[in-house]
Amino acid sequence: MLQDRVVVVVAQRDPEKEDVGPSDLYSLGTEALVARVLKMPDGTTNVLVQGQRRVHINHFDESGDAIYAATTPINDTIEKTMALEALMRAMVALFEKCVRLSRNLSEDVYVAAMNADDPGWLADVVGSSLQIPIAKQQEILETINPAERLEKVNVLLAHELAVLELEQKIQDEVQQEVDKSQREYFLREQLRAIQRELGEVDALTRDVNDLRARLAELGLPEKVRAKAEEELNRLAGLPSMAPEVGVIRTYLDLLTSLPWQQTTIDDIDLDRALKILDANHYGLKKVKERILEFMAVRKLAGANVRTPILCFVGPPGVGKTSLGRSIAESLNRKFVRVSLGGVHDEAEIRGHRRTYVGAMPGRIVQTMRMAGTVNPVYMLDEIDKLGQDFRGDPSSALLEVLDPEQNSEFIDNYLDVPYDLSRVMFITTANMLDPIPPALRDRLEVIEIPGYIEEDKVQIARHFLVPKQLKESGLSGQQVSFTDDAMTQIIRSYTSEAGVRNLEREIGSICRKVARSVASGRRYPHVITRKTVARYLGPARVNWGLAEERDEIGVATGVYWTEVGGDLATVEAALLDGKGKLILTGQLGDVMKESATAALSYIRSRAADLHLPSKFPELLDVHIHLPAGAVPKDGPSAGITMATAITSALLKQPVRRDVAMTGEITLRGRVLPIGGLREKALAAHRAGIKTFVLPRKNLKDLVDVPERVRRELRFVPVDHMDEVLSIALLSNSEAIRPVSQVSESSDLPVVASC
Ligand SMILES: Nc1ncnc2c1ncn2[C@@H]1O[C@H](COP(=O)(O)OP(=O)(O)OP(=O)(O)O)[C@@H](O)[C@H]1O
Ligand SMILES: [Mg+2]
Repeated sequence: MLQDRVVVVVAQRDPEKEDVGPSDLYSLGTEALVARVLKMPDGTTNVLVQGQRRVHINHFDESGDAIYAATTPINDTIEKTMALEALMRAMVALFEKCVRLSRNLSEDVYVAAMNADDPGWLADVVGSSLQIPIAKQQEILETINPAERLEKVNVLLAHELAVLELEQKIQDEVQQEVDKSQREYFLREQLRAIQRELGEVDALTRDVNDLRARLAELGLPEKVRAKAEEELNRLAGLPSMAPEVGVIRTYLDLLTSLPWQQTTIDDIDLDRALKILDANHYGLKKVKERILEFMAVRKLAGANVRTPILCFVGPPGVGKTSLGRSIAESLNRKFVRVSLGGVHDEAEIRGHRRTYVGAMPGRIVQTMRMAGTVNPVYMLDEIDKLGQDFRGDPSSALLEVLDPEQNSEFIDNYLDVPYDLSRVMFITTANMLDPIPPALRDRLEVIEIPGYIEEDKVQIARHFLVPKQLKESGLSGQQVSFTDDAMTQIIRSYTSEAGVRNLEREIGSICRKVARSVASGRRYPHVITRKTVARYLGPARVNWGLAEERDEIGVATGVYWTEVGGDLATVEAALLDGKGKLILTGQLGDVMKESATAALSYIRSRAADLHLPSKFPELLDVHIHLPAGAVPKDGPSAGITMATAITSALLKQPVRRDVAMTGEITLRGRVLPIGGLREKALAAHRAGIKTFVLPRKNLKDLVDVPERVRRELRFVPVDHMDEVLSIALLSNSEAIRPVSQVSESSDLPVVASC
């Protein structure tokens, strides 16, 4: 700086070496002009030099305070040819790409390169900016010919560019790999932070605030409120993308949408209630009375009387489910229903703990949410179809639900806080009582809804089913009516059921056929008669047993009972030469077989009194057959019928065809009571029987038999078999014609209980 500011800059062969002598330096260096000297804060000195030209170092002189060199300048000027010009342009273009990709090259170097006129100079500007080892740089310095130098630098530059491009590509890929959700996470967190800075409320905080406000309005019980508060605070502290956020929000949504306080006011107006019940259902006196009793007690004693848990038991289609709905209507309560058919898993009733993925509340809580009030009429349908297996026993969960002592604190695993079910009116339904576990059955007030008799069905059809079906077929405006005769025909010949579901279906089918005629502008029947029914529904599908056409020997008429009603059952007895065996055919069950043996033993014990043939019993086999041989039959109530048939065969005295009988027989000939009297009496009446023999002990059941049947059928109560025989057997002179023709009976596919 003090002299001419000229120095020679020369590289060390080994950059690491500290103590350097002339032998450690290259012999070709650069003459440079010192532009500036800066003292740095850390005590070092920064010198900025500008290269001027290449010099060859002839020799060093180390005698002074610095190393001096005697140099010869090197001249590298060259004439600019077209080839050189092209080379220069190519280099500038390449260099531009490098600058764009590299983080180390500044725009300034590029500008300098772009403005360089001299080929050698350009090569030096570009070459010095590349990050290459000293040896390589020295090589460029020592390449005196500018054209050659340009080429060398060009090669290095191309290599540099390739490396940079590769680096860029790798970086791009890594960037893409960065998980999208993580990116979102960052963005959202940034957004939240920005919104906080701006004093705005972000979406999650807004949700938390909303939920807090909703919870405050609900008037939750203390325990629940504390739990909700706890969950809310957890939610507020979470980042909005945390996986728990969804889980906690769903939970809080459930808490806020469950009814805790909302009630409907019971409308206790007995007259109105009865009107509603009658408007929706015919008959069902017992159930309706029970509901009115409940309402009356409610009215007198206030809301703290215990709500009964009713259980409607009855065959399909008798209106159990639909009755629940009209009870709710008559009480002015909400109605909800849950079908328990096929529920195997306790968790379906009680829910899963929230620690499980995809946990949900149980059906009870879910349905309460649907109800929206704390005091709905809640129907647990098909409670007898509850399953039970390794997944637990749902009926034990129901025990808690249906126990008035416990259900004010019902715990759903998902909800995790007690829920009060004590104001709910539970109604359960079942087809049969047997499958319901005893502990559960004990909590239920069972109301049996037996099947309907024909007269009931006609009424139900006329007042409920026909109007409903006409409406559904779009015929309500037309004048279409059914005669009672037609209705009876549909009931008898096209349906075989205790309820009215198939009846409704057949009526619907007729209505649609009429609708078709109306719609296509054809003539249509205004009155549906027996004939119309046959035309629309085709040949009869069900054959009910009818009384025998003749009084016959060895053929007695019994009656049996099934879920879908009663029917006649013929018993045939035949005597064959043999060894005193009893042959039984017609798929008889064990009880019935024993009953047949008892009947035979009784007759044997009475052989002398009855003047039976002397060949009996040693030389005669007795064969008893019950027609409809494919249908399994069982039960003891055909006892007296079988005894009558055998006696008739032995005495060769026909049995009166208009007498039907039912009763169990003992070895001493006493007649014991049986079940299903109502259905059996109705079947006998329908079949044209005149006299109905029944055990005396069953007389009390006659109250259930409709008035008309009691008037038209002669009921004869008996205590002993002798009485049965005197009523049923004709003396030979009374017989119209003794024949042994076997007539067909019903071929209903039902399990008969005789
Ligand atoms: N007494 C009645 N008065 C009017 N309609 C009735 C009566 N009984 C049944 N019904 C009608 O019969 C149809 C079937 O009734 P519902 O579905 O309630 O039977 P259910 O007893 O629940 O049978 P399931 O045991 O098969 O569930 C309904 O359309 C209902 O309105
Ligand atoms: Mg039902």
